[in-house]
Amino acid sequence: MEPKPLGIAIIGAGAIADVHIQAYLKFPELCRVRAVCDLYPQKAQELIDRYGLDAQACEDYHQALEREDIDAVSICLPPSAHAQTAVESLNAGKHVICEKPMAGSLEECDQMIRAAQENGRLLSVVAQNRYKTPNQKVKKLLEEGAIGPVLFGTINSLWWRGENYYDLWWRGTWEKESGGCVTNHAVHHIDLMQWMLGMPQWVSAVITNVGHSNSQCEDAAVAVMGYPGSMVQLTASLVTHNEAQEIIFQGRKGGISVPWQASASKALPNGFPEPDTDQVDALNRRYKELPDLELEGHPAQIGNFLNAILGREKLEIDGLQGRNTIELIAAIYKSAATGQRVDLPISDQDVFYKKGGIAATMPHFHEKTKSVENFQATKPISLGRDVGK
Ligand SMILES: NC(=O)c1ccc[n+]([C@@H]2O[C@H](COP(=O)([O-])OP(=O)(O)OC[C@H]3O[C@@H](n4cnc5c(N)ncnc54)[C@H](O)[C@@H]3O)[C@@H](O)[C@H]2O)c1
Repeated sequence: MEPKPLGIAIIGAGAIADVHIQAYLKFPELCRVRAVCDLYPQKAQELIDRYGLDAQACEDYHQALEREDIDAVSICLPPSAHAQTAVESLNAGKHVICEKPMAGSLEECDQMIRAAQENGRLLSVVAQNRYKTPNQKVKKLLEEGAIGPVLFGTINSLWWRGENYYDLWWRGTWEKESGGCVTNHAVHHIDLMQWMLGMPQWVSAVITNVGHSNSQCEDAAVAVMGYPGSMVQLTASLVTHNEAQEIIFQGRKGGISVPWQASASKALPNGFPEPDTDQVDALNRRYKELPDLELEGHPAQIGNFLNAILGREKLEIDGLQGRNTIELIAAIYKSAATGQRVDLPISDQDVFYKKGGIAATMPHFHEKTKSVENFQATKPISLGRDVGK
């Protein structure tokens, strides 16, 4: 017998809320969106009308938390509001899926994880790019040892945003957005890296702002992360016009990347390379053989979240996974601010662990002088060109 559909509330009715609602609507037998909440209730009502939902528009999300027929919430708020809203929702007995970045500090991540444990509820953090076929296949190939131990990684998290992107009130401030391109864009690739390779031992980074004068935070960054026997270089930018994004791993037996490409060399007697075509063919064959995902992106993660609430699947992306990514982001900022290499883990006594610690410490590249409450609705936002093509 099918269980009663789960009741869902969407908290925050901005750009990404749309994507969450579309994802829930793919599982009509599992859930119903029963409330959409926003400080601007007309934005909530617009979404309800657009999707013909039988749902309440709430100006105050606490109204949704009081409803017994709501089992789970999607937190689609600006980053600085994630932790408090998640903790309140978990304490109200709701399961939570929270947009990236999980929170502005490790301290808040730990509060969220604790609230989930204490209330026996699920906490998931959005990392929808794990559910992209090429990312899944490359992870599987790494696990199978297809290229041997990874020696070097190159991750290009390159995006483009206009100067006016930062006019939205919460963007471009350390306090409300919690950072720039590292926290809100490269977060996707940092998550993929730690999912595929695990956590590095140390981080060294520099950040700057080269093209966004209405933002306190960085719009370009280079980080190097050290693993035993290997190193990964991450570049992040918001000034890259073609938004080329790639993840490249070089192993002892070959190289693989997303977007998919395989390469392999063997040494001539003088050490110079010649192509190892047998190995390239084997990598291409195995890549082709691995199954494609039936569902990708937010719908796939939300499907897992719903099925995990119903006890049918294990939750795949939990609070600890979200926390790992925030720890790497905190380490990048700490290294950039101090000019030092940062060894992981970050201790709970570190200012970069504490709530407000990053905002209090980081330089302001510019002061934010322009602020608009809402942008005019345009076409749906883009979620990164090649994160998993
Ligand atoms: N996973 C992805 O690819 C992806 C893409 C875009 C955005 N995001 C994330 O989603 C979150 C929201 O981003 P967005 O682009 O939708 O922002 P947005 O500004 O378009 O939407 C946020 C909404 O929250 C509302 N809000 C703010 N504080 C509130 C409160 N206390 N109570 C109720 N409503 C409140 C605002 O009025 C706004 O409508 C951010 O954390 C962002 O990083 C994720």
